Amino acid sequence: MKYIVVAGARPNFMKIAPIMQAFAARPDLHADQVLLVHTGQHYSQNMSDNFFEELRIPKPDINLEVGSCSHAEQTGQIMIFFERVCLEHRPDWVIVVGDVNSTIACAIAAKKLGIAVAHVEAGLRSRDISMPEEINRLCTDAISDLLFTTDELANQNLRNEGVSEERICFVGNTMIDTLFQQLGSARRKALPDGIEKGQYAVLTLHRPANVDFPDRLASIFVPINEIATHLPVVFPVHPRTVPKLRGLKLHSKIKLMDSMSYLPFLNLVVNSKMVLTDSGGIQEETTVLGIPCLTLRSNTERPITCEIGTNILVGTDPRNILKHALAVLSGNRRPSCIPDKWDGHAAERIVDVLLSNEAQLPRFGHSLNETPQ
Ligand code: UD1
Repeated sequence: MKYIVVAGARPNFMKIAPIMQAFAARPDLHADQVLLVHTGQHYSQNMSDNFFEELRIPKPDINLEVGSCSHAEQTGQIMIFFERVCLEHRPDWVIVVGDVNSTIACAIAAKKLGIAVAHVEAGLRSRDISMPEEINRLCTDAISDLLFTTDELANQNLRNEGVSEERICFVGNTMIDTLFQQLGSARRKALPDGIEKGQYAVLTLHRPANVDFPDRLASIFVPINEIATHLPVVFPVHPRTVPKLRGLKLHSKIKLMDSMSYLPFLNLVVNSKMVLTDSGGIQEETTVLGIPCLTLRSNTERPITCEIGTNILVGTDPRNILKHALAVLSGNRRPSCIPDKWDGHAAERIVDVLLSNEAQLPRFGHSLNETPQ
């Protein structure tokens, strides 16, 4: 049996790190049975290389080096290059994670060759089809043979879409495996200069819906500027957001930084008073860490973090953002708990299932090795 694990963009790296480890820990597998393919969707030191180094992810066996371009171009190029990889290496399983363009591109290319596809972090739904990630989630789940889910709400979404129980596999959250594994190392990192433990907020913004419209972005900064009069706001800026900030009036207590690598960023979050974000993964990390999270979106594909975690959807209305931020500053904290199976062992469960599924492969489709030449 041969497996290809795919990673392409920043949020993928913390999800595949424990999967690669769990594969490596299996004495019944040879190293050449598991290949890591990096699509190159993210490629810079800050967005990719630092994550491989800090999380000790093995060097990718193959890098497709697609880089940044339009959605169709990026997805199409990944499909073309990944199909060649599949034809050359003939995997039995392709494992894709998350909801980025690399996820759907590799899932389609593999599936059309008759290769079994496993999707890690399946079943999440924002119900906002204007998000590119929602399109990627729906399409990837529709064609994947095994759907590894992070919570019961995701299982329910899949059932509601008519997915049979045998394809759904509730394993927990591999991103949280990485968080638990790395928390000790993260805590040993330094905070940015001039920042005191517990006395600052963290801000991240990169969703096209928030940063690509100048009026929307300016109005988000009205309450953020106000929050900065109460406590400093540390803002590691995603590369796509950098040019959008030009000309905006930002309070001097908003500390702009380059986008950060995993360990310093985790340390920044764990020591903060609150986080304001439009990221998906950060909603989950703050829930596990018990840090109040205000999500600057009107929907989330991760509602479990609002139901039992620390996350509040505050949208982008300036008054609402400020109201919730001031409530946190005045000590208002909701009790929260960690979702079921977010226990640091999700990746081991995934690899156990994949290896035990060997015998069942034909049920999911024919293997590439049986495809007529
Ligand atoms: C992608 C994902 C998004 C994820 C985000 C995390 C899709 C559809 N979107 O969005 O779900 O939340 O990654 O970062 O897959 N850039 C660099 N260096 C890099 C990569 C990108 O400077 O290594 C810059 C380029 O100017 C690029 C821009 O960032 O045009 C956006 O990158 P892209 O991968 O297209 O989308 P993200 O917004 O990062």
